[in-house]
Amino acid sequence: MRTRLAAGTAVLLVLTLAAPASAAGPLKHNTTRWVGSAVAAQHLAAEADYRKVLTREFDSVTPENEMKWGTVEAVRGQYDWSGADAIVAYAGKTGKSIRGHTLLWHSQLPDWVGGLEAAELRGVVREHIAVEAGRFRGKIRAWDVVNEAFNEDGTRRQTVFQTKLGDGYIADAFRWAHAADPKAKLYINDYNVEGLNAKSDATYELVKSLRRQGVPIHGVGIQAHLSLMYGFPEGVRENIARFAALGVDVAITEADVRIPLPVTPEKLASQADYFGRVWDACHAVKRCVEFTTWGFTDRHSWVPDVFPGEGAACLFDENLRPKPAYHRLNRHR
Ligand code: G3I
Repeated sequence: MRTRLAAGTAVLLVLTLAAPASAAGPLKHNTTRWVGSAVAAQHLAAEADYRKVLTREFDSVTPENEMKWGTVEAVRGQYDWSGADAIVAYAGKTGKSIRGHTLLWHSQLPDWVGGLEAAELRGVVREHIAVEAGRFRGKIRAWDVVNEAFNEDGTRRQTVFQTKLGDGYIADAFRWAHAADPKAKLYINDYNVEGLNAKSDATYELVKSLRRQGVPIHGVGIQAHLSLMYGFPEGVRENIARFAALGVDVAITEADVRIPLPVTPEKLASQADYFGRVWDACHAVKRCVEFTTWGFTDRHSWVPDVFPGEGAACLFDENLRPKPAYHRLNRHR
């Protein structure tokens, strides 16, 4: 009897191990992390299939451009919240959490901001943060408060905010955002900070120092715009873990993996591996609370515009069919 039972157990074990990694329903049901995508209001309005897949697979959304300063206040004092409001309404209707992106970024900045003198600029930045974070108060789970503040060598990027307001602009931005929406988790967000390098070191030191000063910063956003051309970054898990050890959350905020065209099955397999390694690194650290991709379909992606010759960076193809990378993330954990 003992032998038969043992044999039966062994057969079961072998079957379990041999079973292929099976798709486990929507991605959002296969993780305890928030799983999100950047979303564009125009596609949400115009494309039913896009809306359907987004709604089915994800439980968090990040407006791709709709909450950027250049979108909401291109002309001083004239606000356009149409895109942002549409996404917030969609999220409300479908029960999605929202990542706000972004309160302060040197890019997609309205022209009129660039020419202001320091004192006026400070007031305008403060007002912008108060107005935008205040408008969506209570509706945003996490805000990318400051985006892309560092150069690759870890020095501060010489943005209009840095050069005119000095180092303290970052702490101020977090304090103003916290005053406007006290429950939102406030993040600093950047690219090329996935692994251990000079830029992630600088981010680490800044967060450590801000926490010591009691500045309300609650998270580090790791964009994770990867490319098969540059290899997989070193030390992603260690890097996430060291941020978490500072007492803050970590989020993967803009993941995508660019492929040098044309697409081949081998490249799709490598892409799946890159996505999977970031996903696993996030799941290895308790405080890595979110995995968001920068768009979900190759039908719409910022990549080909900015990196000619590269593309197909998302989890779904142009016809919204799941790619190997999707299956890699969506196997049973
Ligand atoms: O809205 C105008 C439209 O009216 C005009 O006809 C068209 C002509 O080019 O441009 C449209 O604006 C474009 C906008 O996306 C909306 O589609 C801008 O030119 C274009 O520059 C802008 O690109 C965005 C980019 O940020 C700006 O730097 C991308 O969609 C967006 O994916 C990208 O996202 C950034 C994150 O915010 C921060 N991290 C990096 C990431 C990728 O660059």
